Amino acid sequence: MTDLFDFDKPARYAVMGNPIQHSKSPRIHSLFAQQTGQNIEYSAIQVDPGGLEQAIGNFHASGGKGLNITVPFKRTAWELMDELSERARLAGAVNTILFRNGSSYGDNTDGIGLVRDIRDNHRIDLRGKNILLLGAGGAARGVLEPLLAENPARLVIANRTPDRAKSLAREFGELGEVSGCGLPALMGQRFELVINATAASLAGEIPPLPVNLLTGDSYCYDMMYGMEPTPFMRWAEQHGAAKTVDGLGMLVEQAAESFYLWRGVRPVTGAVINTLRHELGQHVKG
Ligand code: ATR
Repeated sequence: MTDLFDFDKPARYAVMGNPIQHSKSPRIHSLFAQQTGQNIEYSAIQVDPGGLEQAIGNFHASGGKGLNITVPFKRTAWELMDELSERARLAGAVNTILFRNGSSYGDNTDGIGLVRDIRDNHRIDLRGKNILLLGAGGAARGVLEPLLAENPARLVIANRTPDRAKSLAREFGELGEVSGCGLPALMGQRFELVINATAASLAGEIPPLPVNLLTGDSYCYDMMYGMEPTPFMRWAEQHGAAKTVDGLGMLVEQAAESFYLWRGVRPVTGAVINTLRHELGQHVKG
């Protein structure tokens, strides 16, 4: 095989997780590749528990250029990297790997994906806002630094287990006005933006929230998405939110940032988000 032929071979990327069969990442990256004319191949690889290090090593050794990492391996990937971006170091998790000069570089594009979706797609300015972040697990940690970088007036992390929220707030205290509490402590407080980063939607539940959390101008964002509005989105609509949004846009935006890291080309995301909404069977607004 000569270099001439290698030149025409697609560059190989994949997403690793477990389960992986319902991942939208192959579809999203193939839409990005079509749109930008990039010659890539992107597959989904299911990895057994304990098998991530070997799976990453095999993919790299076989000439793969980069990976996305999803549930439940983002933390393990973070531990395995040769190098980390600053935002991945703070997030404590890696969702994007770039192989370069024989070593692995781990990044985390989830937080910037959330911020771009809220700020650029939904045109909600985060500066000076009162923001409530529900949850204190990996998903919440992953978005804290980019949210604080937008200079909200204050960011409150509230969690079922209050100590996790308090310790997360302490860890990020130098980056902005952030505090942590339990859910009952939200009583009597109001927020302009409420972001659900708990895993409660997965079980069809919502965290127990006080009734007067929202004003008529409040926005509610669920980092989850599905065919139907999530339980948190339903709660938000019932409690007077001005707008409720699911996490599909965040998914596409984090993928776009990975694509940019790998290929140096930034895809246009709006049309891809709409395509996915149609394919999910969601009603496309506006
Ligand atoms: P992830 O990486 O998805 O954030 P995680 O680290 O297990 O996963 O964190 C899950 C988060 O969802 C936690 O904040 C958890 O609250 P606890 O810290 O009290 O466990 C929250 N969570 C999960 N199910 C919930 C529910 N039914 N009601 C409220 N919070 C819930």
